[in-house]
Amino acid sequence: MNVERLLINYKTLEQFKRFKEYGNQELSMLEDFQNNIIENDSESPFYGIYMGHNLIARMSLYKVKAKYDAFFHPPQDYLELWKLEVLPDYRGRDYGKAMVDFAKRFQMPIKTNPRINSHGFWEKMGFQKPKYEMERDLGGNPLIWMPEGVQEKQDT
Ligand SMILES: CC(C)(COP(=O)(O)OP(=O)(O)OC[C@H]1O[C@@H](n2cnc3c(N)ncnc32)[C@H](O)[C@@H]1OP(=O)(O)O)[C@@H](O)C(=O)NCCC(=O)NCCS
Repeated sequence: MNVERLLINYKTLEQFKRFKEYGNQELSMLEDFQNNIIENDSESPFYGIYMGHNLIARMSLYKVKAKYDAFFHPPQDYLELWKLEVLPDYRGRDYGKAMVDFAKRFQMPIKTNPRINSHGFWEKMGFQKPKYEMERDLGGNPLIWMPEGVQEKQDT
């Protein structure tokens, strides 16, 4: 299973429409592309798996800088992962796991805000709930994963 960084072009943007979590992020990429603000085939924050020519799984990954880190000890750069989605026909065949394993290979801590009914999946992937902090988490439901040597932020 080959996870690759997605290039922004008409084909990719068209394939994105098949995913449920399609919204402002995709629309603004489409606009930037149409207005020549970004070039055809520029790199996106999206990674995915192709089956032939079809994109069947995708996720967004963004590196958050250490100075904004409110989750880990010591404070450090970490990855925010969102919009992980496997198309319905392909679920339950380890594609979701392949995507998360790919993100883990950067050897940075990862934070995500899972959908309500995917907790079982994230637990299997070794993600855990950080100790709730009202100011930081508010209505969110963050889950985190840490590579060896990294700890959750201590109480201050
Ligand atoms: C959540 C999602 C990304 C998982 O991807 P996937 O490719 O289907 O999952 P995988 O095949 O890689 O599963 C890896 C492991 O997690 C388990 N798992 C997957 N989804 C799960 C879930 N919703 N609850 C509990 N365990 C789950 C699998 O059984 C598998 O366990 P195993 O290694 O012991 O066999 C994918 O199902 C998806 O995009 N769902 C979107 C909608 C959603 O969140 N649905 C939740 C269920 S309806």
